[in-house]
This record gives sequence, C-alpha cells and structure tokens, in this order.
Amino acid sequence: MSENNNGRTAELIIDGNRFELPLIEGVEGDKAIDIRDLLRDTGYTVFDTGYKNSASCSSTITFLDGKKGILRYRGYAIEDLAEKCLFIEVAYLLLHNKLPNREELESFRTLLEQHALIHEDMIHFFDKFPPNASPMSILSVMVNSLHNFYPEMSADPLENIDMTASRLISKIRTIAAFSYKKSIGQPLVYPRNDLSYCGNFLNMMFNTPVRPYIVLPEVVAALNKLLILHADHEQNCSTSAVRLVGSSGGNLYASISAGINALWGPLHGGANEAVIQMLEAIHKDNNDYKKYIAKAKDKNDPFRLSGFGHRVYRTFDPRGKIIKDACDGILSVLNVQDPLLDIARNLEEIVLNDDYFVSRNLYPNIDFYSGIIYRALGIPTNMFTVMFALGRLPGWIAQWREMREDKETKIYRPRQIYIGFPARKFVSLAERS
Ligand SMILES: CC(C)(COP(=O)(O)OP(=O)(O)OC[C@H]1O[C@@H](n2cnc3c(N)ncnc32)[C@H](O)[C@@H]1OP(=O)(O)O)[C@@H](O)C(=O)NCCC(=O)NCCS
Repeated sequence: MSENNNGRTAELIIDGNRFELPLIEGVEGDKAIDIRDLLRDTGYTVFDTGYKNSASCSSTITFLDGKKGILRYRGYAIEDLAEKCLFIEVAYLLLHNKLPNREELESFRTLLEQHALIHEDMIHFFDKFPPNASPMSILSVMVNSLHNFYPEMSADPLENIDMTASRLISKIRTIAAFSYKKSIGQPLVYPRNDLSYCGNFLNMMFNTPVRPYIVLPEVVAALNKLLILHADHEQNCSTSAVRLVGSSGGNLYASISAGINALWGPLHGGANEAVIQMLEAIHKDNNDYKKYIAKAKDKNDPFRLSGFGHRVYRTFDPRGKIIKDACDGILSVLNVQDPLLDIARNLEEIVLNDDYFVSRNLYPNIDFYSGIIYRALGIPTNMFTVMFALGRLPGWIAQWREMREDKETKIYRPRQIYIGFPARKFVSLAERS
C-alpha cells in the first residue's frame, strides 16, 4: 500500500474519552481517516449509507478527481488512452500495470483469438431463454456458467488468472453477440481470427448469410474508443459488487456475473438505455423539455434526468466530454441524422443553465451521449448496457485480482444500526390474534 500518514492523526472524543485515528493519504492526495480499529477501540461503528464517505480499499488501478474531472488508468490520462490505444492495449494495461510492447500485445491478441469460441454445449442455453429475454440477464447467466465449462480457475485462482482473464475478455463478446442474434432469430455468426477485437464483435453482431457485413474502420474506431472509456472507474457499484463476491472466495466468473447484475440497474450502467428512452419520450412529447425538467425537480416524482449527475464527479465527466466530441464525427462519417442528438444538446444546454442542476453539480455523465453513438453504430437500445459490460470487464478483472492479491483484504461485511423491535416475547400460532 502506498499510504503515507507521516504520523499525523485525527482526534476523536467520545464521552470524554480521547482516541487517536491515523490519517492516511494516497499518492494523489486522497485523504482518509483510518478507522480500521475503530470498533475494537471505541465500540463505535460509522454510519455511512451508500458508502458516500468510505474508501473500501486502496488501489493502484484508477485515479479519478471528481472536482477537476480527471480520470487516469494506471497513471495514464484517459484522453491519451482513448485517442491513441486499442481497447486490448488498455485491457492489458489494466491487468498488468504496464502498457504492452509489440510482442506482449501480439501474444495477448493470440490468447484472445484462441479463446474466442464458447463451448458448443453452451450454445443450447441460448435456445431456452424466451425470445425477448434481456441480454443483460443472458450475459450474467452465461458468464456464471463459464465456471462449469472452464473450472481450472477454481483450483488456483491467481495462477491461472491470465488465461482466465483472456478467456473472459474474449468469450464475453461472443456471448454478447450470440445473445443478440438469438433475440432476433438470426443464425449465429462465429468469431473470426482475422478481425480485430472490435471488428470481430461487430461482424458477429451484424453479418448475415444473405448480407455480408462490411467492417468499417470508422465504426471499429468508435467502438474501440467507447470500450476504452468504460474500461474502469475505480470503486463504483458494479466493481464493488465484483470485489464483494470475490472477497468471500467466490470465483472470478461468479464475481463478474455479480458485477454484470449490479451494472444493469438504471442508476448505474442501465442509464445509457434510460437516456435514449428519455430522449425518445421528449421527442414524442414535441420536445417539451420543460415537462421533463419539472419532473426531475419534483421531489414527489421518482423521475431523474438520466445521464446527469455522478457520485464522484462534481464537474463534467471527462469521458462524457470525449464521447460528445466523438458523436459529431461518427454521425457525420456514417451520414446518420439523429433527432435525438439535437434533443440531447438542447437538454444539456438547459440543464447547465438551470439553478437546480447547477447548485447540485449535476453535469452530463458518460451515459448521456454514448447511447447516441451506439444507435448510430446500429446497436439496439437493449444491448447498450451489455456494451458497457464488455468495456468494463478488464477493469473488473484487474480489481478482482488486486483484491485477491492484497494481504489487507477481508471479507466485505458492513455493519448496520438496528432499528427494528427490541426483544419480544414469542407468541405461539394459536395465541396470535
Ligand atoms: C448517478 C447518481 C445515482 C448519483 O447519485 P448520488 O451521488 O447518490 O446523488 P444523490 O442521489 O444524493 O443526488 C444529490 C441531489 O441531486 C439530485 N439529483 C441527482 N441526480 C439527478 C438527476 N439525474 N436528475 C435530477 N436530480 C438529480 C438528487 O435528487 C439530490 O437532490 P437533493 O439534494 O435535493 O435531495 C444520480 O446522479 C442519478 O440518479 N443520476 C441519473 C442516473 C445516471 O445517469 N446514472 C449514471 C451514472 S454514470
């Protein structure tokens, strides 16, 4: 751990008793009060719903500064990685803490090629889902099932991690594309080793026996960028779910499957789908922005403006900025006119000038514009969160590995403040009124 406390402490006084709590600081200045011995020393826990104030681990993977809008993977600026790297290079970086040289990249690519197929028996699973099954539920089930087909991982989880990581990163895109093909009743398209990671995925999604899919470099580049932007985001809800399941000794596949389920929710990865539904609703309502802004502000209405706000960013999400710029480029290359893009721009403009949103630091996040690009690439709305999962996978694996290798890791097990009945006398069934 690269914590540095320089012997500084915080003082806590409870009922006149004084306790010293060490202060710790990360390499970029993150400050924390170390309460690891708090309960033992004081008898008190801390109450922190949603873990808004709690650091659950120390990590070397991703740094983000929510006030300045900075995001770095393994020390590299997201802007550089998104512009100059392949997604598989970034996956390697997250997994190995270094950018690969040519040789390393080639052998990683070869590993991914070797593991692109899924066991033929797994293909029958797809037939058993109802036709309109959610691709996120299929993804989570299939990833969990990989454990049964490739159980080597359980014997020595860390020894086989490279193989398992490559297997997962390669197979998840095959599973994702197959689930889409099944949902629209088209024959499956198998992976091809002559195509790039993103090109291969697009081909499996869109090739048909009657109409070959032409893999356009601009489309591949756009997908590559989106996956990089999604690749990690420190201790968010799904990553914490991955770590939580892994902390009990759960295998990597089960942990990733948990991450997929956590990502599915509309407050997290599901927001990209919700954004498009919201923009479509505004469009149908003759661009009645006022109505939706009023709903978002109304405390009695659960509606929120999807794609705005973030637990950590108090300014523009740097990933959102990159995506917004990419949006114009890709739509014009593909000659796509999407009325939802204009609606999105207008909505953003209104929000950025509205006191309710300004005072709460609610800015567009990564999900606000990503859906518009996915639409332009031909990806159906119900696959958007699956796309997020494909991108986030290397981050989840890197976080899982870091957690398992960290000697400080303990099983995740928060405390609670019990507010139910005090002890009650048991009443037998016959005596209950
Ligand atoms: C991301 C999100 C879950 C963060 O939640 P959080 O850190 O727990 O923040 P809170 O829910 O406490 O919100 C703080 C305040 O802003 C308001 N707020 C937050 N996001 C809002 C949104 N998208 N629309 C309207 N109001 C919002 C809350 O109502 C709250 O107002 P209050 O202080 O008057 O009660 C939240 O901003 C949200 O629901 N956004 C929409 C979903 C989304 O885009 N998710 C993708 C994230 S990448």
